[in-house]
Amino acid sequence: MTASSAPARSNILVLPGDGIGPEAMAEVDKIIAWTNAQGLTAIETEVDLVGGAAYDAHKAAISDAAMDKALTADAVLFGAVGGPQWDGVPYDARPEAGLLRLRKDLALFANLRPAICYPALASASSLKPELVEGLDILIVRELTGGVYFGEPKEVVTLENGEQRGVDTQVYTTNEIERIAAVAFELARTRSNQVCSMEKNNVMRSGVLWKQVVTATHAKAYSDVELSHMLADAGGMQLVRAPKQFDVIVTDNLFGDMLSDVAAMLTGSLGMLPSASLGAEDPETGKRKAMYEPVHGSAPDIAGQGKANPIAMVASFAMMLRYSLGLGDLATQVEAAIANVFDQGIRTGDIAGSDITPVSTSQMGDALLAELQRVIEAG
Ligand code: IPM
Ligand code: MG
Repeated sequence: MTASSAPARSNILVLPGDGIGPEAMAEVDKIIAWTNAQGLTAIETEVDLVGGAAYDAHKAAISDAAMDKALTADAVLFGAVGGPQWDGVPYDARPEAGLLRLRKDLALFANLRPAICYPALASASSLKPELVEGLDILIVRELTGGVYFGEPKEVVTLENGEQRGVDTQVYTTNEIERIAAVAFELARTRSNQVCSMEKNNVMRSGVLWKQVVTATHAKAYSDVELSHMLADAGGMQLVRAPKQFDVIVTDNLFGDMLSDVAAMLTGSLGMLPSASLGAEDPETGKRKAMYEPVHGSAPDIAGQGKANPIAMVASFAMMLRYSLGLGDLATQVEAAIANVFDQGIRTGDIAGSDITPVSTSQMGDALLAELQRVIEAG
């Protein structure tokens, strides 16, 4: 079966990275090969190194050549970075620096982290099934500002010989406005609720955050229901009653922590995809974008065929939707994921005690077979 109109050619930079990154990415490669052969996509991929793998080759967490490719690609598909073998490398060349440079240099300020609990997996959550069943929240994390990038950022030696480590939390009006706008826009496509989280009781940047989110809402998004929560209380509410949330918008550091919490609600870190988007180009209407699973490199299980490739495949689905304009195919990939769960096919992280887990590549094969079925069924 072929698509009725040929999809536009797209040029994707694939950065598998370290640990389970390459194994998980291999399952996406299988899907791309098939959708390309069917004429459903016209994806051209280029592969390069990032993280520890790039350090071993170039003594940098990403080479300038790879960065150039990322800047011209339609999107970047990113696996994972890091591992204990790079613990001793210089700070600026540590594997995570490659990821942070991609985010910063591509200006990917909006990080979308959906946490969806598939019904079949409610029992794999560490919370009671009734608390998480049907959970569908979206964390919108600011990704290029805050304490991750604020200056000064240093360790200095004081006159008395002591050392002092400094990171700087900093946000400008524009940075807050644009992330709030993304959250409000996305809420309109969902349940129309945004909860903004900060710590205005301790942080000046939190005071500004709350003011600007409130003003942005009043100016252009008053049809969306807006609430505010202190980020610590937000963490508590996420584990107490997660289904009260629709879209959560928060800063870089709180978003890092809250999205790990949200990920675990769904049963496994191996389930959560993410999209990191830049501003819309006023001429082309396109955004720079990178798609990456939230789980990280999991060095303890790397190379053993145990990794759950679903977050990587779901990240690929987000790429189809947000960068390639192939929302229907994205929905079909997501349906294939849900069906595979319903069939009881599980990798070890979500198998529980009564299911024999499948390997990474068996899961990938099951997903592809199910995608084929979903598409044929139309
Ligand atoms: C994430 C990760 C990264 C972050 C690390 C690997 C730098 O935890 O994407 O959530 O802190 O942003
Ligand atoms: Mg994190």
